[in-house]
Formats: sequence, C-alpha cells, structure tokens
Amino acid sequence: MDERTYLLRSGSNRFGAIDFQSSPEEYVPRDSAPAPLTELLSAADIVEAGGDLSYELERALLSGTAMGGARPKAILHDGAREYIAKFTASNDNFPVVGAEAASMFLAERAGIDVASTRVETVLGRSVLLVERFDRGDRGERVLAVSALTMTGLDELQARSGSYVDFLDSLRMNRAPEGTAAELFTRIAFNMAISNSDDHLRNHAALWDGTKAVLSPAYDLSPMRRSGETASQAISYDRKGARTNNFAELLSVRNLYGLSEADASGILERIQGVIHDNWEDAAEHGRLTSADKRLLWGRQFLNPGTLYGFNGH
Ligand SMILES: Nc1ncnc2c1ncn2[C@@H]1O[C@H](COP(=O)(O)OP(=O)(O)O)[C@@H](O)[C@H]1O
Ligand SMILES: [Mg+2]
Repeated sequence: MDERTYLLRSGSNRFGAIDFQSSPEEYVPRDSAPAPLTELLSAADIVEAGGDLSYELERALLSGTAMGGARPKAILHDGAREYIAKFTASNDNFPVVGAEAASMFLAERAGIDVASTRVETVLGRSVLLVERFDRGDRGERVLAVSALTMTGLDELQARSGSYVDFLDSLRMNRAPEGTAAELFTRIAFNMAISNSDDHLRNHAALWDGTKAVLSPAYDLSPMRRSGETASQAISYDRKGARTNNFAELLSVRNLYGLSEADASGILERIQGVIHDNWEDAAEHGRLTSADKRLLWGRQFLNPGTLYGFNGH
C-alpha cells in the first residue's frame, strides 16, 4: 500500500479530530457506526436468544483477540457519547480491568483530571467503559495529539523520550500555568500504582487553536511486578532517570518548577489518597478480596516506591 491509500483507509474512529478524506468538500466516514452501549449490556441475552452481535463486539467479547493495542477493545456509543470498551484478554490471570478502573477512580480522588470510567460484567467478563475525551457531547471531534506526536519523536521512540521532553513541547505550545505540577502529579501517581507502561502514547494533549493543554489521563494500568524495584517506561529527568521511587522523583522537582515543600506535598497527598480511598476504589473496580490482596502493597503503594521518602 502506498502512503495515500494507507491514510485513506484508516478508521474514521481514530483518535483526535483529523480524518483523511478523498474529497475536500464532502465528509464520508468509513467505519461502520460504533455499536450501541446497550448491545454490550444485553450481550448475554442476545447470545442466549441465538442472535448475532456486531462484528466488533463479537471479536472483543467472545474470541478475546486484540484489536490493535495491547488489549481487546471496541468503540461503543450511547447517543452521541462515545466510549472505549476495554476487555480482559481471555488468557489473563491478572485483574487488569478492575485494577485499571480502581486506578482511574483513585486518580480522580487525587485531583487528576481523568477520563470517566465504569465497570460492567458481561458474559462473565469484566469490561471497562472509558468515556472518550476526543469527542464532544454531540459527537463533535476534539483536536488531540499523543505526547509522541507532540515531542516529534518517531514511532519507535515512544519509550525513549521523557516526561521533560513532553513538558517542553507543552510549554512551547503555550500550555497554561500549572501544567508542570499536573505532569509531576501524574508521574508520581503512575509510580504509586505501578503503571510502568506510561510511554509517550499513553499521554496526550488537547489543542483549542491557541494553546495545548494536557488531556484527561487514560490507560492508568498497574502492571505485573515482583519485588520492590520497577521502572517507568520513560525518563522523568534529562539524564534517563526511570526508577519508580518517590524520593528520586522529588530530587528532580526543579525541572517541574516545584519547591521542595510543594513537591513533597503532592507526593504525600497521592500516598494519602490511595491509602484512604482504596476500599471505594476496589468497589468501583469490582475487585474481589483475592484481587485486593494481590494488588495492595504490590501494585498499589509498593514499599519500593516509598523507600527513602518521608521516613520510609
Ligand atoms: N478516554 C479516551 N478518550 C479518547 N481516546 C482515548 C481514551 N482512552 C484511550 N484513548 C486512545 O486509545 C488508545 C488506546 O487506549 P489505551 O487505554 O491506551 O489502551 P491499551 O491498554 O490497549 O494501550 C490510546 O493510546 C489513546 O490514543
Ligand atoms: Mg495505551
């Protein structure tokens, strides 16, 4: 396929506002319309009655194959609102959906602007519904770019850029005051939930024609880990620091324009919020007590994250 064909065959459901069209005058979306949310919620009844699910849902729900990205996904709509439904892969023995939902809940409690989520159980499998922030209430498209695009890095460099490169690109595009502190907060939060998959495609910015702002946070997924050492996917300073550790992050606070008191305050707040809201978060994620035992102190607030910080 040449480049032009490739672009013209890309999905109209793609992230952000840009869609590729052959006519400059007439807009013809290519994908079949997203399935309604009700189809997902009543999937069990549909299947039981011998009915057919839409192709996308059938693949994501029944065969558990990945549809691009690491996890099976489908786009659904409820009126003009669009959702990304993220499913558990059938061979998964880690509560990915519940852990992600709990994390999104905790992030919101920690004051992070975050995409809103809820968990449904369909045909015995948990599904995470994430509201799309790149579509408006009437389905209008919102200009959005990944941090990978913002930093101008190549596809293969998604894991070699840094949070500081992303911050530079936001500042160059007139990001509002407070952006650096918000980014610092998100790094700390990713550490606190063991999200070591925080690469440049898992961050994004919205563009309103004059300035870039951080998009709501998404894909806050605790990763499997054993022991107390873990690394972030990208560096949080200019020298390649990636260690999952609050004290290490605190030592580079100047890059984010934060005083020691402000930076420590952010880290303490995150630790406190996760600690105090864990039960509610687990409920939001429909985690079982076994899931909770597995995750607490390992993915959530691992001692390695806190080591050297505030008397730990
Ligand atoms: N709430 C959202 N609104 C708009 N786009 C999103 C949202 N969440 C994710 N995306 C887009 O979908 C892509 C895949 O979603 P993500 O949650 O990162 O799945 P995965 O776990 O497979 O990486 C993201 O890289 C981003 O471009
Ligand atoms: Mg992702």
